[in-house]
Amino acid sequence: MPLIQQVIPIVEEVAAFIAQEAAQFDRSHVVLKELNSLVSYVDQQAERMLIEKLTHLQPDAGFIAEEGQGVRNANGYNWIIDPLDGTTNFVHGIPVFSISVALSLDNEVVMGVVYEVNRQECFWAVKGRGAFLGDKPIKTNSNIILADSLLGTGFPYQKFEHEGPFWNTFSELMKRSRGLRRLGSAAVDLAYTACGRFDAFFEYKLNAWDVAAGALIVQEAGGLVTDYSGKTNYIFGGEIIAAANPSIHGEVQRCIAKNYLKRE
Ligand code: IPD
Ligand code: CA
Ligand code: CA
Repeated sequence: MPLIQQVIPIVEEVAAFIAQEAAQFDRSHVVLKELNSLVSYVDQQAERMLIEKLTHLQPDAGFIAEEGQGVRNANGYNWIIDPLDGTTNFVHGIPVFSISVALSLDNEVVMGVVYEVNRQECFWAVKGRGAFLGDKPIKTNSNIILADSLLGTGFPYQKFEHEGPFWNTFSELMKRSRGLRRLGSAAVDLAYTACGRFDAFFEYKLNAWDVAAGALIVQEAGGLVTDYSGKTNYIFGGEIIAAANPSIHGEVQRCIAKNYLKRE
């Protein structure tokens, strides 16, 4: 059986655990990792479950996981995992949170799954094989122009040194598009860009586990993904632009470059 068909049931099982805990979650279980960065036993238990089950599938693969469990493999395969993307939403009872699981081989992502827990939507892609929502192929909006587009982003919430460039970018794109949304799960933002709900997504200060799976899904759906400079360091580089097509990507990237990169 193809690996992806073994990975998806594992993610679904962990999603069922998260959904069950969401129904009875008590905020006293929250621990502050650092400013505005929350974690609870749900994130940790979900990560443990994923690591245990994925280890059975591929015993030699390492793990790059948000809650720090598992060991990275210097060479070969690594799972890149966010067991609960959208923890602040989860804690506050806002129903947008997901699981993000990617598999990389020698630093290239070859498989990605983003599972939106409440809508039970499974977005997935295998490198070179296209992108899917459940069993249906998905595509980005290939012909959309900025004026007709809906954009996703994330607000700064922890490190505010680039707040000015962020708001300048936001202000310009707000006027040139149909609007911007801040869903609170970068993995969901990327999945929504892949299936045409969003036309572009950009965010600064993300980690590999937020974007690895979603970026592959966007690419396999026909979209374009880069860092803020238009280059390829978007998984470990902490900044990402994912867009439905090169035209939207160019518009968003030029706007970001104008506002952010002039700092350098
Ligand atoms: C966060 C979400 C959010 C993004 C943050 C991430 P977490 O992940 O993806 O949308 O704005 O930067 O840290 O902490 O909920 O896993
Ligand atoms: Ca995350
Ligand atoms: Ca997380």
